[in-house]
Amino acid sequence: MKKHIKKTAAVLLSGAMVLSLSSWKSAVKATGQNLVVDGLQFIDLNGNGKLDKYEDTRLPLADRIVDLISKMTDEEKASMLMGTGMPGFDGLTPVVGAVEGRVPGAAGITYQVDRLGIPGIILADGPAGLRIKPIRDNDKRTYYCTAFPVGTALASSWNTELIESVGKAMGNEVKEYGVDVLLAPALNIQRNPLCGRNFEYYSEDPLIAGKIAAAMVNGIQSNGVGTSIKHFAANNQETNRLSINEHITERTMRELYLKGFEIAVKESQPWTVMSSYNLINGTYTSARKDLLTDILRDEWGFKGIVMTDWFGGYAGFNSLANGTSNVVEQLDAGNDLLMPGLPAQKKAILESMKSGKLSKAVVDRNLTRILELVFKSPLALKYKYTDQPDLKRNAAVTRAAAAEGMVLLKNSNNLLPYTVKGKDIAAFGVTSYDFIAGGTGSGDVNEAYTVSLIDGLTNAGYTVDQELKTMYTPFVAKEKAAELESRKKRGILALPERLPELELSKELIDQKAASSALAILTVGRNSGEGGDRNVANDFNLAADEVSLIDKVSAAFHAKGKKVVVILNIGGVIETASWKDKVDAILLSWQPGQEGGNSVADIFSGKVNPSGKLTMTFPVKYEDTPSAKNWLGTPAANPENVTYAEGVYVGYRYFNTFKVKPSYEFGFGGSYTSFAYSDLKLSSTVFNGKLSATVTIKNTGKVAGKEVVGLYLSAPHEKLDKPASELKAFAKTKLLKPGESETINLTLSPKDLASFMESRSAWVAEAGSYTVAIGASSLDIKKTAVFSLAKETEVEKVHKSFALTSPVNELKAK
Ligand code: BGC
Repeated sequence: MKKHIKKTAAVLLSGAMVLSLSSWKSAVKATGQNLVVDGLQFIDLNGNGKLDKYEDTRLPLADRIVDLISKMTDEEKASMLMGTGMPGFDGLTPVVGAVEGRVPGAAGITYQVDRLGIPGIILADGPAGLRIKPIRDNDKRTYYCTAFPVGTALASSWNTELIESVGKAMGNEVKEYGVDVLLAPALNIQRNPLCGRNFEYYSEDPLIAGKIAAAMVNGIQSNGVGTSIKHFAANNQETNRLSINEHITERTMRELYLKGFEIAVKESQPWTVMSSYNLINGTYTSARKDLLTDILRDEWGFKGIVMTDWFGGYAGFNSLANGTSNVVEQLDAGNDLLMPGLPAQKKAILESMKSGKLSKAVVDRNLTRILELVFKSPLALKYKYTDQPDLKRNAAVTRAAAAEGMVLLKNSNNLLPYTVKGKDIAAFGVTSYDFIAGGTGSGDVNEAYTVSLIDGLTNAGYTVDQELKTMYTPFVAKEKAAELESRKKRGILALPERLPELELSKELIDQKAASSALAILTVGRNSGEGGDRNVANDFNLAADEVSLIDKVSAAFHAKGKKVVVILNIGGVIETASWKDKVDAILLSWQPGQEGGNSVADIFSGKVNPSGKLTMTFPVKYEDTPSAKNWLGTPAANPENVTYAEGVYVGYRYFNTFKVKPSYEFGFGGSYTSFAYSDLKLSSTVFNGKLSATVTIKNTGKVAGKEVVGLYLSAPHEKLDKPASELKAFAKTKLLKPGESETINLTLSPKDLASFMESRSAWVAEAGSYTVAIGASSLDIKKTAVFSLAKETEVEKVHKSFALTSPVNELKAK
């Protein structure tokens, strides 16, 4: 072996490059990708048996890429700036070279240049797990992936360590199925409860969204595969998503809609960012240089590539085939890759390259970034994937993660955990029998199975009423088949419809109240990409659901028995009108494929609930600050939407304007109780950094974890500001009864600052700041005060997001 290395090194030394033996050895070791061809160690990408400079893995990647680009024709360059893939769309729009590729069901592939040996790397969705085709033609094997809990459910755990472990498991499936980049996580702000994709997103608050996203990216990328944080930025509605023009001030952009992305970029360096479909102040996000270059790269230090969302930058699918106008602006702005490319785009790129409208510098810059991505992919590193990820192990990961994200909204007289076994539980509601693992669209996963609620309870040793099961099962099967059929007819992005409730007679329900020990009633909701939810029959319960709750609670309460509601939903619904009628409410979210088992773990007390809301549940939809301008104008076919609520989204609005919610941001119950004590600040004067410590003690009878939030109230002489904002959070370890943990939460200068447009700077005002430590945003346990002696300009930035029409933002005073 030694001899061989020496000989090879000698050959290399006689070549143009002079390298020491030890640096060569470490290069070989570090890359592990070398081949021996004619005694030379290198990657023979183009297969010509000779060492081309770009194949020499001992050289810095940047030098290799310069050489490679110099060998590319204009035609190849234009093709490489676009992706391909997404078969099925080629009928609708002629995608360049739409092929199924190595991994059927993946969303896209980068362009492959065989002549030079540049491989096409595979990009696949999505946020709740890898989305590929589970069954392949002429192949007996299956390719199912794990359906993890949806984004909202994961974020509700407030546990970044847990999320990182979910990311690790998810990324392992990505790698073992031969995919290079996962098109996830999605972290847009949940501006309004009706957004059809809220389930994919994390929160109404950018701190939690950014921290969860960073943990997810770190977990996924630890496998050596990439991520694409999306959709950058302000992709907050599905209605007319390809063309909606959003009018948003720079301050609101920076404090709310960009903040989470900023955290994720700085704390996890995602390999890619996906620009969004929408326009901001008159320009597509994919063509905004301020967003994609000045902010993302220059201010935040992003090093990867930006790709468009699929066909992003066009006014609508109908104009896709002809829509070329934006190409140069997109590439110039720093949107490196157009996914998936269209012939018209390629033509425009080639013409613009020829005319000089698109500069060589921009083309080469974007290509360099794309090639850097390609070269670090598992494909380029010749990773031998197995197509056999450990689905069993990952089922355990999703089961635990789902349980930790569940939120106990109500638990009168400690009804839960429910430990009575051997007596029938009457399970009502179609969703009890057809549990919803996750939403639809690109955020959906093709999992092998979903554990229903009743199966989960049965697995845990409970007995469910068999007569109800016999009635519900065929009804659900029939309704579900009809729903799927209708969805198929309505096309690729058709939205799911709620299954109607089985009508049960009062006599039957009375009979069940007499014969069973407890009622469980599941309310289910599903939604997805391509459309938003409605207030009627979706945010608000439908008449058949209200009637079921009324009948079941009246009958069971008349017999002295209790009713537990399970909310198997992906987004916020109305709870205020009916929550008093039932005894316990468990928000299970859409908890992934092990859902029924995860609910049973909470129900039985095997797991003590510790999830908390990452968004506000309003009393009524109309209380939502963005309700007034939701979807935009004209109402029949919205073109423009003004974010007039400004930074007052979610709890920032409810708590500042003192609007009482049904359940506030941060709310969530436990089977135990916690005491907060000894809040101490490291100093009462802010001097570059400040930390707050607080001790949390489990004062109840069972082990549990507590989520602790630090809400900061800042002086607001110069700028209008929310009453308080979440600036740090932590989750305790599993504390045994009587056990304590001291949590340490830190504040940096930027945490004190708000964005002052007039100065293009983050400015912390002088004065007194209040630290409020809360179990929720309204349940404040301890407060302390510190001061900032002098106004501080924390960070000066590029002026961005010039308005094209006035936005009169809501003010607190
Ligand atoms: C979605 C993205 C997704 C892409 C590829 C788009 O329609 O908005 O989130 O990653 O398709 O499937």
